[in-house]
Amino acid sequence: MAKDQHSPVRIVQITDTHLYSEESGTLLKMNTKHSFEQVLELVRMHDSLPDLILGTGDIAQDASEPAYEYFKSSIGMLKAPFMWLPGNHDNALLMRSLAEGTSAAHKHMQLGHWLIVMLDTSVDGQVHGALSEDELAFLSAQLEASEFSDSVDHVLVSMHHNPVKGTAGWMKDIGLQNPRKFWETAKTSSKLRAIVYGHIHQELDFEFEGIRCLCTPSTCIQFKPGVVNFALDKMNPGYRNLMLNSDGSIETQVIRVADEQLEPDFSSGGY
Ligand SMILES: [Fe+2]
Repeated sequence: MAKDQHSPVRIVQITDTHLYSEESGTLLKMNTKHSFEQVLELVRMHDSLPDLILGTGDIAQDASEPAYEYFKSSIGMLKAPFMWLPGNHDNALLMRSLAEGTSAAHKHMQLGHWLIVMLDTSVDGQVHGALSEDELAFLSAQLEASEFSDSVDHVLVSMHHNPVKGTAGWMKDIGLQNPRKFWETAKTSSKLRAIVYGHIHQELDFEFEGIRCLCTPSTCIQFKPGVVNFALDKMNPGYRNLMLNSDGSIETQVIRVADEQLEPDFSSGGY
């Protein structure tokens, strides 16, 4: 995609929308369509025409075609290319077939000097994630090609599951189950600048193995960090914007719905 060499690449990450085929669908009593629409309104207010919108999994709670079509048409109104990848609640095959003929059919995209790589960490029927041999080979090939590329200076990897353990006790087994293989591959790159993900419904920005890790809140319910048992956080839904600079630095903010209280069922023991 043509892009001025030195202008920053602007990305909006939207994650864990948990949409249903029914408009009235709720997750722990929060209407996920309503909260998604509130977040899209925020994107329209804050981020004029990003270069790319990343949908990082758990797009649909019920893995239904109407939920994916609704996501696609809503995102389409933002008039920017989008890419998506599956989470534990998604149907990866269905998402692939619905993406045909759109920008979301791609697993990688170059924007300016940045290469964006999308990984599928979903495992059929499981909450946890894993990278298959094929996905690891894909990542390895992308990173190796970028090392030898004159036009790619920086790489951003995107996935659903957390590649570093979550901070709550109940989260310890729901992240990426083969993180060692992932990090071994990641560390072969001199150009990998950051990993963006969702899944644990909270805002995180830290460094691991010298690589920046950015976790983004869901557009619906929020998980409380640092607790032993499942608990919802009182933070409002949101999204992340990312400014990928040509020198490899990243400026990023999480922007949350303000004012209105979108209250889920705080007494719930799980989701
Ligand atoms: Fe989720």
